[in-house]
Amino acid sequence: MLPADSPTPGLSALPEYAALERHAASARQWQLRELFARDPQRAAQLTLEAADICFDYSKNHIDAQTIALLTAFARAQQVESLRDAMFNGDRINLTEQRAVLHTLLRVPTGTRFMLDGVDAAADVHRVLDRMASFCDAVRSGAWTGHDGQRITDVVNIGIGGSDLGPVMGCHALRPYAQPDLRMHFLSNVDGHALAALLPSLDARTTLVIVSSKSFTTRETMANAHAMRRWFLQHAREQDLARHFVAVSTQTDEVARFGIDTANMFPFWDWVGGRYSVWSAIGLSMMLAIGPDQFRAFLAGAHAMDTHFRSAPLERNMPVLLALLGYWYRQFFGTTSLLVAPYHQDLHLFPAYLRQLEMESNGKDVTRDGQPVTTPTCPVVWGSVGTNGQHAYFQLIHQGTDLIPVDFIAALKPMHTHLDQHKMLLANCFAQAEALMNGTAGQTLPPHRRFHGNRPSNMLLLEQLTPYALGALLALYEHKTFVQGILWNINSFDQWGVELGKTLAAQIQSELDEPATQGLHDSSTAALVARARAALK
Ligand code: F6P
Repeated sequence: MLPADSPTPGLSALPEYAALERHAASARQWQLRELFARDPQRAAQLTLEAADICFDYSKNHIDAQTIALLTAFARAQQVESLRDAMFNGDRINLTEQRAVLHTLLRVPTGTRFMLDGVDAAADVHRVLDRMASFCDAVRSGAWTGHDGQRITDVVNIGIGGSDLGPVMGCHALRPYAQPDLRMHFLSNVDGHALAALLPSLDARTTLVIVSSKSFTTRETMANAHAMRRWFLQHAREQDLARHFVAVSTQTDEVARFGIDTANMFPFWDWVGGRYSVWSAIGLSMMLAIGPDQFRAFLAGAHAMDTHFRSAPLERNMPVLLALLGYWYRQFFGTTSLLVAPYHQDLHLFPAYLRQLEMESNGKDVTRDGQPVTTPTCPVVWGSVGTNGQHAYFQLIHQGTDLIPVDFIAALKPMHTHLDQHKMLLANCFAQAEALMNGTAGQTLPPHRRFHGNRPSNMLLLEQLTPYALGALLALYEHKTFVQGILWNINSFDQWGVELGKTLAAQIQSELDEPATQGLHDSSTAALVARARAALK
């Protein structure tokens, strides 16, 4: 375990870090309500707007000096030059020697971007145009199943980044979706998921998208083969081409699987899985909301990219969001971040963010291959806020851990139940106020006291539009990247998932045939033997 209050000698030797440490010692004593009482301008000064998102970060243990010290530290850690390196296409994903260019997926038409001798921006738009033609055809009924019927159901088979972005986006933008096109997401290799899905489908009217960057992910391939077998129980081999399309970087693997590569939508190795919703991985989203709204989603992200690239660190939304998270993790010993959307359609946003932040920054090795000696990514968790209030918010208010909260809400609803929307927003604002103020000034028995002084951020969208969703996701992508820089880790690889994959493949074979003695510890060996016996 790495104690939050004993940073590396290396970091402490950095004057910008040492200054932060000294400052944190007093900031830990501050009462948020007193900071507000002292400065009537506090909320106005610590609120920022970019890409149609309003970010109120005033309910944090910070003052102007904190921001100055944090941004000085960010500069010392080279946030600006690494940010520019990312946008320029430098190979900042060092362990895989890859550029990191998800921002290129949302540049406007007509942008030129030369990468390894080709105009990668033109490639991006060529694929987007192909996706748009395909989606228009499916949505209008021009693309039919093999017997001429309209497509009614779309199944996206993918996992991790090839699932979480599109499924979250389809839910978030539900009011924009074409009602007669049902979307399904098959990610879990658990056959129960497949068994629950298949009875609702008609092979003649189902379109399957096999989404996998590598096209070798075992869970995805197992589900894809199972869907193919199911399809072939109802149709012929030559009918597959009307019903199976692929999204991948691996043309050969797609062909090997038996999908016509004319029906493949490519993307590139410079798009990380958890940063890929903007690429053809977003095909299911584009099918749901249509090409124009998908382009609005890209435009929102691009607006946030432009802000991130150009705003001074002191007024830069992703940078500030990252610095605040770093501040608490590093100097207040926090271990988790609660993300609480006050919007039912964002109910999958915390799950999406879990992968984005924890797969990116849950690392214990620096960019130079040295062990890290301070904590890195906190646990990111959450659910829609109102339901959380009636479940776990007790701990947020009166528990013994300090847990910063990101509240997310939209000012205007996408429905007409205005009273309920007012109730929703009132709850959201009340929670942030209660966390901050507690019950100070009231005489209450101990069990009814709230000490307050608990920090939160408030992110307000005007309305949950495709543009706003794009901006919100890009905000968190860049926050994640900046935190990776502050911790000096590579946010764009995920070697930590490999060992489990290798062992699972080995154990799977042992569920059929016992392995040589001594391959496993006695616990694992007994579990495998018990399962093998049960499945005989
Ligand atoms: O196992 C982790 C991971 O590689 C994620 O990073 C990725 O999003 C997911 O698996 C799916 O990978 P693919 O798109 O190659 O199937």
